[in-house]
Amino acid sequence: MCSQAAVRLEPVLLSRINEARKRTDSLFRLLPPNSFYDRPIPERHRLIFYLGHLEAFDWNLLAAPLGLVSRNPEFDKLFAFGIDPVGGGLPTDVPGDWPNIAWVEKYNKNVREALDEKLETGFLSNSSAVDDTLVNVAIEHRLMHAETLAYLLHNLAVERKMPLAGPSAAARPTPQQRPVRVPEGVATLGQSKQGGSFGWDNEFDRHLVSVPSFSIDVFPVTNGEYLKFIQAGGYHNPKFWRPEDWAWKSQRRLEHPHFWLPRSSSPASDPDTLWEYRAMFGTVPLPLSWPVFVSYAEACAFASWAGKELPTEAQWHRAAYGTPEETERTYPWGEEPPHHTRGNFHHKGSDLSPVDAHPAGASAFGVHDLAGNGWEWTSTPFEPFPGFEPFSFYPGYSANFFDGRHFVMKGGSHHTDACMLRRSFRNWFQPHYPYVYATFRCVEKSA
Ligand SMILES: [Fe+2]
Repeated sequence: MCSQAAVRLEPVLLSRINEARKRTDSLFRLLPPNSFYDRPIPERHRLIFYLGHLEAFDWNLLAAPLGLVSRNPEFDKLFAFGIDPVGGGLPTDVPGDWPNIAWVEKYNKNVREALDEKLETGFLSNSSAVDDTLVNVAIEHRLMHAETLAYLLHNLAVERKMPLAGPSAAARPTPQQRPVRVPEGVATLGQSKQGGSFGWDNEFDRHLVSVPSFSIDVFPVTNGEYLKFIQAGGYHNPKFWRPEDWAWKSQRRLEHPHFWLPRSSSPASDPDTLWEYRAMFGTVPLPLSWPVFVSYAEACAFASWAGKELPTEAQWHRAAYGTPEETERTYPWGEEPPHHTRGNFHHKGSDLSPVDAHPAGASAFGVHDLAGNGWEWTSTPFEPFPGFEPFSFYPGYSANFFDGRHFVMKGGSHHTDACMLRRSFRNWFQPHYPYVYATFRCVEKSA
């Protein structure tokens, strides 16, 4: 029975929860049991944490509005929060600090059964102040973790994963980069609180930004372009790096992007063949036409070497959604829902695409590959929009990162779910985190 304060759930949300669960379940199936206690990225938890985290998050979010009482408060707390240390402090826990896999799987099963029994009634009882927002948060939180899990597993040695087919990349030359002129105009950032659509707290409120004319790269920077920076000694010249980035690069002894490996033997003296790309399930000769994945620090250094800079969030918006008629599109290509002909997103596969592979996804100004195939760094620090209000039930989701040390990323990667390709969605990372599926493109320096 439902109380009078009960809120009707959109039926589609229930099927979306199950779809999202299938997505993350399939990623965990890539792990043999003895890999769950590995920590593929030093700044993140061991993988066992993520196995429990997705259910613990859903439970901590939905149990009270559904009138449920915890059966395992210890796990609810243990698996509640991920970590994002800035400035060097790394976690020091050992595998023995974590429960065994069977216990975590039992916890997950119990959480799903308890939540589903209530959710399948179609109501959030005891909930007069919240509506579908809570369930959307649970769904998108899980789908975001599908992407972060993908790059965590990407970073795990191939022999620590279930065997799957290795990468394939046809040899193609670097597409010819060129600038595209975007005239002066207005970019609409964020979405309206009155619009009724779901968005995370940092996506509100809608506001207009005037953007002077600028020129932007037609494609994201490719491995082939980035190789020229390396061959020019870019990783050995501090003048291209911000001082804090140079210190980080030097301390880590970085000589190339995290996703590249020096080839153990090169068949020729051609310097373009000295590198391999480290894909999810093996290596492949460096695909010159794929976008380069790098940290913000490395993106800035390349831009400096090229005599350019990264776009602001507003410039990126304008290039992606603006039109010569001064209207704005829902997606770079127009109003049609995302489809795989428009870009490499929505878990299309574990490989990348050449940056010129989806002309049907180009924006009105002719800018390519904006949605999918790698998030794109902007030069805009992650800050609240005017009118920002944190979610009462998750106050730290964005606010914990408004520290001037994280930067906005736009666009999406090959593992970004289509629902998060909406115009107002913002991702963010710190400058010295090289593991994420992030690329960039440059703009001409403003006068
Ligand atoms: Fe999380």
